[in-house]
Amino acid sequence: MAKERTQVGIIGAGPAGLMLSHLLARVGIDSVVLERRSREYVEKRVRAGVLEQGTVNLMRETGVGARMDREGLVHRGIALRFEGGDHRIDFEDLTGGSTITVYGQQEVVKDLIAARLAAGQRLHFEIEDVSAHDVSSSAPKLRYTLGDESVELECDFIAGCDGFHGVSRDAIPADHLTRYEREYPFGWVGILASVAPSAEELIYSSHDRGFALLSMRSPTLTRLYVQCDRSDTIDDWPDARIWEELHLRLATDEGFELKEGPIVEKTIAWMHSVVTEPMQHGRLFLAGDAAHIVPATGAKGLNLAVHVVRVLSAALDLWYRSGSPAALAAYSETCLRRVWRAQHFSYWMTTMLHRFPTDDAFQRKLQLAQLRWVSSSRDAAASLAENYVGIVRV
Ligand code: FAD
Ligand code: DHB
Repeated sequence: MAKERTQVGIIGAGPAGLMLSHLLARVGIDSVVLERRSREYVEKRVRAGVLEQGTVNLMRETGVGARMDREGLVHRGIALRFEGGDHRIDFEDLTGGSTITVYGQQEVVKDLIAARLAAGQRLHFEIEDVSAHDVSSSAPKLRYTLGDESVELECDFIAGCDGFHGVSRDAIPADHLTRYEREYPFGWVGILASVAPSAEELIYSSHDRGFALLSMRSPTLTRLYVQCDRSDTIDDWPDARIWEELHLRLATDEGFELKEGPIVEKTIAWMHSVVTEPMQHGRLFLAGDAAHIVPATGAKGLNLAVHVVRVLSAALDLWYRSGSPAALAAYSETCLRRVWRAQHFSYWMTTMLHRFPTDDAFQRKLQLAQLRWVSSSRDAAASLAENYVGIVRV
């Protein structure tokens, strides 16, 4: 078995793993990133699209923001659409100047991969059978297969950034972990369509038939989501049905016109909340979807992943510079405060905007009363805006 060494072994080349390796490299800490998929696959995987101000600032400050600044779309607000009309939440006004940037997750991933490879840092795609060992000792190891070769990677620390279906969580004994979970009885069919967006800003629509969301990726690419049942499969949603539901759920009294175009990508994602506590065991640190997933309605998943790796890289930097374990010991508690704030906001947005199969007419009246309040009270709108652009108070 070949032996290699690094300071931080990172499993997963999603936003969490790549951003962590990028931040560590900037403070002179060596890391190796191990990804089971191909480079092409991770660069084409369409997922989130909304970057909080803090994520944008971090990309810029750490030298990976140039393409985002050229191609990202800065948005100053969103529309809540219900009862046939739009109600704008003006982020800039309500938060004292903060905005969001629409820039696809796979573009962030591409920029981070390019920066890492250009700097000659180790990032291996298509690795197989990664496993973490001796995580409670001071000499943890990762074993994996790359091509025909079996490798043992000696590390000082391991970061489990391998997403919800990864293996790093399993390296923690089950009796040391508590899992908090909620499954919502619906999902989103998401499409990417080759057509100019039908609106300038995102539209979150709460309709009697269910939720719909209009977003975008560029002046020629529209991203759309439509709420579907938990029991649906992608075969239940031929293109014609998706467009039909989107037209119905996005309709306004003023005659909103949704432009159709060829669908170039189509997937279903389930709305699900999971938090794993604690986010650390010995020298293994979990970050991103490996530790916490949120329902997509608040656009928090990617931003939360970036936030926790920022905390982790600062804690590792302190350890390497001064030998102090204080920040590493506080990692889980520090992150979990924000994780739960994001969980609550995502739950709040999800329950405000979707139809639940058990909802009766009374519940719908309550939901509409809440939507009217959020749209008409400055304080209520400000609470949505503050959480959406980037959580500061946890
Ligand atoms: P991931 O992006 O999942 O990255 C984990 C990486 O680890 C992957 O590259 C994976 O291939 C790799 N990996 C897994 N197992 C192993 C292994 N055993 N060995 C090596 N590598 C491994 N959020 C939003 O805000 N809005 C959205 O619209 C939205 N849509 C989503 C749609 C889908 C289908 C999914 C799954 C998530 C979506 N999210 C969305 C959430 C957001 O994309 C995630 O929160 C974000 O990707 C988290 O980043 P991460 O790096 O923690 O995990
Ligand atoms: C997008 C995804 C979200 O979950 C959201 O709340 C807003 C936008 C998007 O993919 O563009």
